[in-house]
Amino acid sequence: MKKKIMVVFGTRPEAIKMAPVVKACKARPELDVKVCVTAQHRQMLDQVMEIFGLAADFDLNVMAPNQTLGDVTCKVLKGMEGVFAQWKPDMILVQGDTTTVMAAALAAFYHKIEVGHVEAGLRTGNIYSPWPEEMNRLIAGCLATQHYAPTPRSRDNLLRESKNPATVFVTGNTVIDALHEAVKIMDADEALKTKFAAQFQFLDPAKRLVLVTGHRRENFGEGFIHICNAIKRVASRPDVQVVYPMHMNPNVRKPVTEILGGLGNVHLIEPLDYMSFLYMMRKSCLIMTDSGGVQEEAPSLGKPVIVMRDTTERPEAVDAGTVILAGTETDAMASAAERLLDDSVFYDKMAHAVNPYGDGMAAARIAEIVSTGKLSNAFK
Ligand code: UD1
Ligand code: UDP
Repeated sequence: MKKKIMVVFGTRPEAIKMAPVVKACKARPELDVKVCVTAQHRQMLDQVMEIFGLAADFDLNVMAPNQTLGDVTCKVLKGMEGVFAQWKPDMILVQGDTTTVMAAALAAFYHKIEVGHVEAGLRTGNIYSPWPEEMNRLIAGCLATQHYAPTPRSRDNLLRESKNPATVFVTGNTVIDALHEAVKIMDADEALKTKFAAQFQFLDPAKRLVLVTGHRRENFGEGFIHICNAIKRVASRPDVQVVYPMHMNPNVRKPVTEILGGLGNVHLIEPLDYMSFLYMMRKSCLIMTDSGGVQEEAPSLGKPVIVMRDTTERPEAVDAGTVILAGTETDAMASAAERLLDDSVFYDKMAHAVNPYGDGMAAARIAEIVSTGKLSNAFK
């Protein structure tokens, strides 16, 4: 009998990081794989599904404008119950730290279904930063029966929490698998590059590109005002242009459009599909972000990152010297960007490609562990 695996995800970053896992699990004939999307995100999820050719077998379609954390939790918990009534898997796989992850893992536990947690063991040690993600991943970690830690450091976090060492594996982060695949596709396709050049013809080739993303809930209110003021200061330089693909959360769009809308050097645009975003990351001189995934991708591309947060659960890139944890004060964020723009020695020191998050084989490792319960020597 084939082992029945349900891969569950709901938001943009989960889809990007789960696309390689779906593919790797489907490549193993002993696994029967189905995809369930909660659609905690809708448009931003569908963009990724299309790029990676993913199709959902189940779709809870939970997204509502400006939804609360409680709304998402209840809808996912109840929705998964309906899905399990139609197809009861032996194991679900969840990824990361969103409300989808926490609620789907809990729903699986209520049905005595095993849970495999992809990107396990990331911690800041502060339950309010990032909020609610630190608690979501702690809960997912309690419910998981297998933990796929991206790095030795995340494995150590789990072992410190007394997880059974036989259930904890270092696999690398699947974001690197996705990135490798996307880079390969882009580099092999001249027509795609021409298409992007046309799509972004508003860029001024004489100006350096600062790429910005931001969406963390703990930054809503004051935090976002500080972030936008820092970007405004950076954009006041004549040698710089800022591109900010805005997250669709209304709590992000309001301050961003109020403070940055209409500035000549700032392009506020819709969320980019993954390929277009990769093209922009490669074009950029530096990236200012509070995103988790971008902190993992940019070092691989040799792009310095200024993290606009007070904490990070991804210290590997900070240690490798390609990411600066700048905090959320306007002056600190803007000064970090200005130093990178003005000090070429400092810039060159930060702009080297390092890959602390994996070798692009994480999904194949995870699929093997899902199937056999262990990692063979070929992958160690
Ligand atoms: C969620 C995750 C966060 C993750 C982020 C990735 C939680 C609590 N938060 O935050 O951990 O880093 O996704 O992007 O799980 N919206 C749309 N269309 C979309 C997506 C969002 O309109 O495709 C708008 C809706 O008004 C929605 C709001 O954004 O209600 C918030 O979406 P939600 O998933 O609750 O939180 P995010 O801020 O996106
Ligand atoms: N991303 C994208 N389009 C954008 C901005 C980001 O495809 O306009 C990708 C980015 O490359 C990364 C992921 O989305 O892989 C990060 O998602 P997000 O910042 O929403 O969430 P987080 O990683 O913070 O949970």
